[in-house]
Amino acid sequence: MDDGKRCSVRFLVFGASMRAGSMNDKLASLAAVTVEEKGGAVERATMSDFECPPYDQDVEVTKGLPAGAQALHDKLQSVDGFIIASPEYNASMPGVLKNTIDWVSRFRPQPFNGKQALLMSASPSMSGGKVGLWALRVPLEHLGARIYPDMFALAQAHQAFDSSGRIADPKLQKWFESTIDCFIDLVEASKHYPGLKKQWVEFLGERPDAETTRVELGETAAV
Ligand SMILES: Cc1cc2nc3c(=O)[nH]c(=O)nc-3n(C[C@H](O)[C@H](O)[C@H](O)COP(=O)(O)O)c2cc1C
Repeated sequence: MDDGKRCSVRFLVFGASMRAGSMNDKLASLAAVTVEEKGGAVERATMSDFECPPYDQDVEVTKGLPAGAQALHDKLQSVDGFIIASPEYNASMPGVLKNTIDWVSRFRPQPFNGKQALLMSASPSMSGGKVGLWALRVPLEHLGARIYPDMFALAQAHQAFDSSGRIADPKLQKWFESTIDCFIDLVEASKHYPGLKKQWVEFLGERPDAETTRVELGETAAV
């Protein structure tokens, strides 16, 4: 914007590790601070807020959706975009995160649909957990989330932070900040200047009709 001020944009930010002392939670905290410094509002959460029992369709039918899924659903409804800092487990996402995504995907309207998202990871490895983020993109994009093309992976994360919680390497810290800045620009544009067709179809070739319950058409969809 010309005056340098942003229109209001709100983000859910959480780390997807259950571990006390998680490096991904630390990265999520840095992301939250950075979003606020760049003019966005933050709803901070942790993975334990969204913990769910293992997905079981019989449990869903008899008991409904669990509190952890309801909590993530409600937070997603209240924001314009979300940021997840996720550990990489065996070249994929943590099972606890996928399990919560599966539960949340059962709400109608389905709350990931049309939400902007930025994915990041922290790992002691040299790759920073980036492979896991590619796996995480798949179900989120499948559910209609708009995943920001750049994903931030913090390699050797156990020694990457300084004592204030920022990334010690100034070049990397700047890159982190500019990734978040550009992501906020995109979310702001998509919220305040909507021109995007928002449509979620689970399977290619699936036609929206009364019997196809997993199709949602957004307000701006031209059918
Ligand atoms: C079951 C398991 C599998 C892991 N697999 C990977 C992996 O594939 N790639 C990787 O970079 N780190 C892997 N790690 C190491 C994690 O990156 C490391 O434990 C990290 O600290 C987890 O994130 P957190 O600090 O946020 O809990 C794995 C750790 C565990 C416990």
